[in-house]
Amino acid sequence: MAELSRRRMLVSGGAVGALGALGVATPAQARTTDWSWAPSGSVAGAGAGTDPRWVWDEEADPLVASLLDRGAVPEVNRLLWNWNRNDQPLPAGLPADLADFIEGARQLPSWADRGKLETAAEFNKSRGLYLNLLNGVGGGMLSTAIPKEARAVYYSAGGADMEDRVAKTSILGFAVGALNAYRPDGNCVVNAVKTRLVHAAVRHLLQQSPHWGGDIPISQEDMLVTWHTLPTFAMREMLRWKVPMPTADREAYLHSWQVTAHLLGIRDEYIPATWDAANAQSDQVLPRNMGPTGEGVVLTDILLGQLAEQTSPGSISRPLCNALARFLVGEQVADWDEIPREPFWERTIATVWPILVRFREGLVPLPLVPEIAWTIDEALRQYILFFLTKGQETKIEIPTANRPE
Ligand code: HEM
Repeated sequence: MAELSRRRMLVSGGAVGALGALGVATPAQARTTDWSWAPSGSVAGAGAGTDPRWVWDEEADPLVASLLDRGAVPEVNRLLWNWNRNDQPLPAGLPADLADFIEGARQLPSWADRGKLETAAEFNKSRGLYLNLLNGVGGGMLSTAIPKEARAVYYSAGGADMEDRVAKTSILGFAVGALNAYRPDGNCVVNAVKTRLVHAAVRHLLQQSPHWGGDIPISQEDMLVTWHTLPTFAMREMLRWKVPMPTADREAYLHSWQVTAHLLGIRDEYIPATWDAANAQSDQVLPRNMGPTGEGVVLTDILLGQLAEQTSPGSISRPLCNALARFLVGEQVADWDEIPREPFWERTIATVWPILVRFREGLVPLPLVPEIAWTIDEALRQYILFFLTKGQETKIEIPTANRPE
């Protein structure tokens, strides 16, 4: 990692640019570490106000550690492979402690609102292109600029095969966005609960990695950080793009992610109840948790390489991929991730994207859309297709080891 560390130092010394939608702070602000977000702003409405950096998942963690220690995980993965639908009974033969846990963990919280979940599903459908782009591609690229997450991903089993890792992660993204996400025939509950088990396994396994020097990974704060790179980031960007959104839709979209957060094991006292509370929490946790790492630079390069490689010749080149990624994550994160500068495409995207949004929203007629806008539009479709297709090839499974040496 000597080369990676050197590059990290170079990046750290670089200019601190504008942070756009994420509001990521300068390093000086980033040193502020007090937790002051009030639990009264959470879906629980109250809580002890414990700093989430020192809270993990007290139910799932000891259970999955014990499954790993007793060598039960391969059989559990085999049994859970065909557990797919929200309403599907658990397969017979699971260890009793795991079955008990899952039966509890798969219940929607008492505050879940079926009506809002249905509205969210419609919103996800009508705003699918923006959301897939922001949650799939944008969220993916942002995660590489979260040092603890980049390192966790790099040194866990999935880090050795980023294609498979992207595929698996996209399963949950598309599950949340599906029309039937929380209906009996959907699969969001199942995939969120499986992800909760995966995270518990990672907490146990990574501490055994010689490369992992830090605290127990994936704290509640880490979960919140990643959560904000998904719905909070997407909502802020769509507002910035002036996408018209009725309040009911905005609230329903938040609600679907509140329910998902609960199912992923985020405590209710940390889940923001409103967009205002979410923005305030995001502004508190993101600055102190984002920055450059050598691992993040490598992961970004792999992701962008995959995106460019899988598309047909001429339709989306690596320079266009680079520019789109920079456009989505903003200057600061793109610099941290060392995404190369592409002046031509950056200028083009900045010019045509607002026109494309207005066209899509029926606010400008077709003749006003410049021809080159369709190259960008096609690239976005390819981006999204990449994530969609990958997700169909695999399923989420509990890892049994870290990245091979
Ligand atoms: C696994 C989503 C937060 C690190 C997964 C998976 C999903 C997922 C769907 C299963 C796919 C797979 O096995 O690769 C999420 C969501 C989060 C979140 C929605 C927050 C809302 C985090 C955080 C970290 C993290 C905060 C680290 C700091 C990992 C790692 C794996 C994983 C290391 C397993 C990779 C492997 O070895 O296969 N996550 N995650 N995740 N996640 Fe998360």
